[in-house]
Amino acid sequence: MKHVYVGMGTDIIHHGHIHIIETARALGEVTVGLLSDEAVGRYSRVPFLSYEERRTILENIKGVARVIPQPTLDYTENLRTLKPDFVVHGDDWKTGPQRQVREQVIRVLAEWGGELVEPPYTEGISSTGLRDALREIGTTPDIRLRMLRRLLAARPLVRVLEAHNGLSGLIVEETRIETDTERREFDAIWVSSLTDSTAKGKPDTEYVDRTSRMQTINDILDVTTKPIILDGDTGGPAEHFALQVRQLERLGVSAVIIEDKTGAKRNSLFGTDMTQTLEDPAVFAAKITAGKKAQVTPHFMIIARLESLIADQGMEDALMRADAYVAAGADALMIHSRRKDPSEVLAFMRHYRERAVQVPVVAVPSAYPHITEEALIEAGFSLVIYANHLLRSAFPAMKSTAETILRHGRAAEAEAACMPIRDILTILPPDHA
Ligand code: SPV
Ligand code: MG
Repeated sequence: MKHVYVGMGTDIIHHGHIHIIETARALGEVTVGLLSDEAVGRYSRVPFLSYEERRTILENIKGVARVIPQPTLDYTENLRTLKPDFVVHGDDWKTGPQRQVREQVIRVLAEWGGELVEPPYTEGISSTGLRDALREIGTTPDIRLRMLRRLLAARPLVRVLEAHNGLSGLIVEETRIETDTERREFDAIWVSSLTDSTAKGKPDTEYVDRTSRMQTINDILDVTTKPIILDGDTGGPAEHFALQVRQLERLGVSAVIIEDKTGAKRNSLFGTDMTQTLEDPAVFAAKITAGKKAQVTPHFMIIARLESLIADQGMEDALMRADAYVAAGADALMIHSRRKDPSEVLAFMRHYRERAVQVPVVAVPSAYPHITEEALIEAGFSLVIYANHLLRSAFPAMKSTAETILRHGRAAEAEAACMPIRDILTILPPDHA
């Protein structure tokens, strides 16, 4: 009996996958190497189904002798262990993000004379198409809530972009580009207090109340499937925060970030032009603990935001608070800075990485936008939030259109900068149009 290896990331199984497995089965005994969330996340969106769910499905398919984990996109390790006579993969990987993976498979198989068999790609069906269909079906609060922790485990850096209403939520949900090595998109949605307030023409001072913020969250939940991280400002009194945690969990929000400030909250990027008063660390730690105690599921995350550098209280203060908040139960930390160069947050990370107990750390490079995602990974960050960029780019575009109409006394000159009416009628998913 010959041995056949099939590497698969399969989310929803379709007849294209079955065709591959049937081809493999005709050649010998089939081992499926099931790609981990992390391996799939290297070139595409992390699967909707968990690894265990995907494994159970594959194990029950006729012709699959066994399913083993393939923890990396690279096949080398599994192939060298199993030395299969054949590897079977659809011929679609000859181009696109997996091209180099394929070349490596051919090189490794040559070490023992193994052969790559590539049945033609099944036209008319694609996992991406199915994903779009899935998005139309929607998600559940439970699936969405869990996704952030899965992403943190699967991705070198979880990439998050701000949304302030349903339409900007759709942009975070749907925008995708293809590079040489991957299909790239945003992993999650940041519901910013700054942009939620500004979009309503209100100051970012916790003046926009919870009911109103909840309405924005609901509008975004309605049209998206990606996990949501809420900017919870200070979280309010501990008793209110505990209630809010339950409300967010029920909605399927994955995480809330609260900041250790007190008094009339001011946006952090004002710095010390405005008075920024830090909360007593013990009081803030107790608020985190109250939130953790209120939590119903183990999946929700409370992220503690350190404002010591914003308030010019120094590195020691930031590190002392980091330890206190983690001890109080914080699932992650966010270190904020309003300096134009990242040296301050990078110094924080160097110290933080020496701590005995560590949790994931979030960066918000609004003031220091030159830093690359590679540099953030290198520094040890787990998540990056682009906190206000959709609103900030929409505003000048709208203002310029208003000025153009005024200048010309008609709208014709503004047309070039506007999307066609036809497109605005089709931008919404069919069930919302
Ligand atoms: C927000 O987006 O509302 C934030 C981040 O809290 S910042 O505006 O940088 O303080
Ligand atoms: Mg905010």
